[in-house]
Amino acid sequence: MSSVEVSAPGKLMFFGEHAVVYGYPCIVTAVDQRVKVSAEVSRDEKLRIEAPDVGLTDYSLEISKLGKKQDFPRGARFVAMAVYNFFNEYNVQSGLRITTQSDFSSEFGFGSSSAVTVAVIKGLSELFGAKIEGRDLFDLSYKTVLDIQGVGSGFDLAAAIWGGTLWFVAGGKTIIPLRTEELPIVVGYTGIKADTPTLIRQVAEKQKKHPDITTKIFEAISLVVQEAKGVLETKNWLVLGELMNLNQGLLDALGVNTRELSSLVCACREAGAYGAKLSGAGGGDCMIALVDEKTKEVAEKAIVNTGGRVLQVKLNAGGVRNESNS
Ligand code: PMV
Repeated sequence: MSSVEVSAPGKLMFFGEHAVVYGYPCIVTAVDQRVKVSAEVSRDEKLRIEAPDVGLTDYSLEISKLGKKQDFPRGARFVAMAVYNFFNEYNVQSGLRITTQSDFSSEFGFGSSSAVTVAVIKGLSELFGAKIEGRDLFDLSYKTVLDIQGVGSGFDLAAAIWGGTLWFVAGGKTIIPLRTEELPIVVGYTGIKADTPTLIRQVAEKQKKHPDITTKIFEAISLVVQEAKGVLETKNWLVLGELMNLNQGLLDALGVNTRELSSLVCACREAGAYGAKLSGAGGGDCMIALVDEKTKEVAEKAIVNTGGRVLQVKLNAGGVRNESNS
């Protein structure tokens, strides 16, 4: 095989963000917006990357110069590091032409970097017959993300690999698929791009200053996540909404909520949603609201009227897959 096309889904954090970085569980769901990666073996000894969605065209680098400590441009960082780690791990070296294309903007916080990382490693695994799957794919992808951003639980990689809705503990210590129906969710985007590593560091500062209090907040978040797991199965949306509101209050206490997120969350609650919370690191990006058929449209209008943008996504999407065979 000399070329391959692989796709991986983005994700939404449902419950448990931030606490998951400290070893507590979270619940994440894969969305039907995907990142596609095509990879082709080339004769020259170059890694060429095209990522037009993020304004990167015609980027190339000598394979022999691929190294860990490089300052790759935006759009090339995760691809180049994934290639470097794959080559090292599987003792391969080859010229490559890699193109990435995303169904969604990298601004939304749907985890485009993680989906790209997973798709590149999976693609190379198919190209060079390495057969990396499941846990091995997670471990090499997680190493790649940590090499670049230094922090993170890896929950988004798990969603990109396995898809569906997952119970996840940091570093992939536990990854369990949860059985859920199509959840009636509305997603609102604040219009503000947030930087996840910065927010993780802010919470770490708070942890240092108030270790006992933040630990209690993480423990409370963990209780919310555990209860949410049971309620997801019984489909008691009233209780699930309450749990989302509790989770939102706890995230606010950690200092990652913003005025814009709050406005969208309150607007959805006033529109009759069962509950609403920010989704992801906070500081901007997205919020989610649990609705029913009647309140869905009202909540969507409320998001728009409050200055947000509604993102149409379906949850429980399938994990990484080879698109070349389809
Ligand atoms: O900003 P997002 O959507 O990538 O979510 C970050 C979630 C955190 O728990 C804050 C970080 C992590 O890696 O788990």
